Amino acid sequence: MLRVEDITHSYKSGNEWTSVLHKINFTVKAGEMVALLGSSGSGKSTLLNLMAGLMKPTEGHIYIADKDIVKMGENKLAEFRRKNIGFIFQAYELITSLTVRENVELPLVFQSVSPRVRKAKALALLEQVGIPDKADLFPSQLSGGQQQRVSIARSLITEPSVIFADEPTGNLDSKTEEEIIGILLNLNRTMKTTFIVVTHEYSVAEQMQRIFTLKDGFLVTEPPAPAEAVHKEPAEEINLHKAPEAEPAPEAEADTGINTETNTDIETGAEQTAAAEEQTAAGAEEHEAAADEKQPAKESGVPEAADAEPEEGGKP
Ligand SMILES: Nc1ncnc2c1ncn2[C@@H]1O[C@H](COP(=O)(O)OP(=O)(O)OP(=O)(O)O)[C@@H](O)[C@H]1O
Ligand SMILES: [Mg+2]
Repeated sequence: MLRVEDITHSYKSGNEWTSVLHKINFTVKAGEMVALLGSSGSGKSTLLNLMAGLMKPTEGHIYIADKDIVKMGENKLAEFRRKNIGFIFQAYELITSLTVRENVELPLVFQSVSPRVRKAKALALLEQVGIPDKADLFPSQLSGGQQQRVSIARSLITEPSVIFADEPTGNLDSKTEEEIIGILLNLNRTMKTTFIVVTHEYSVAEQMQRIFTLKDGFLVTEPPAPAEAVHKEPAEEINLHKAPEAEPAPEAEADTGINTETNTDIETGAEQTAAAEEQTAAGAEEHEAAADEKQPAKESGVPEAADAEPEEGGKP
């Protein structure tokens, strides 16, 4: 479902280029949950942002559902991201002027989904992440852990086939961290969504099926073959809009250029904000009226889903 091939990335500062990722290769199967582990500055976020199509690598290829996102033009990539990719940020990135439910609905605002359906899906997801009673509150009225639950629900609403999470528990205490990781593990099991989770904590990483370790921009561990993407023990059943059974509905409709934006910065690393900005702008407007009540605004980031196939591979 995800194949990273000879990815190399350099950032430019002034006249100098600094190489931060060196020939990274690995493959993730559909439905796997893998950790990207490494110390600060090892290149985790850079790699994650590249895989999520938030920026372009200096060299190499990244295939998601057999499409090379590195080669995609901006519009097509933006559309592809919305359909196939979800993103969870360390700092949640919720829009403060929208209610919890509106935040979760936001990605669907870009997909001509009726308000009634959007609302129903958002409420089902809020239930799924354990905060059905918070739907009408604003993000500022929630704890950090609750805000991250909202952000998880938002990343799921488009039913993406792969979700990238950059230190999703980085701002949380250890108990809340456990709860959030528990939710992600459970979603992976029940919905078969592929997860790539960046963390610098081994205790978090070891709960996932495989660990990729980055050190100074090199992939230093060869992850065990993904032959049997073993899902540990199933936990409680959760229902959603999507039948858990079915593998994430694969569609190769990735090539339906429609949208705009995407960033192609090789030198800056515009990262997450890009995605966030996109989804936000439009959605925010649309919800403006509804949210007449309060607070300032901010951004959110959320993409979407597709699916695909397994593969193998990998080498440092
Ligand atoms: N926009 C940028 N411009 C120049 N250098 C950058 C940029 N973003 C990251 N870097 C450099 O790239 C290297 C890898 O950074 P990255 O953010 O990917 O690390 P990380 O593993 O996510 O670290 P952390 O755990 O602290 O988040 C670092 O040396 C960092 O200074
Ligand atoms: Mg980082």
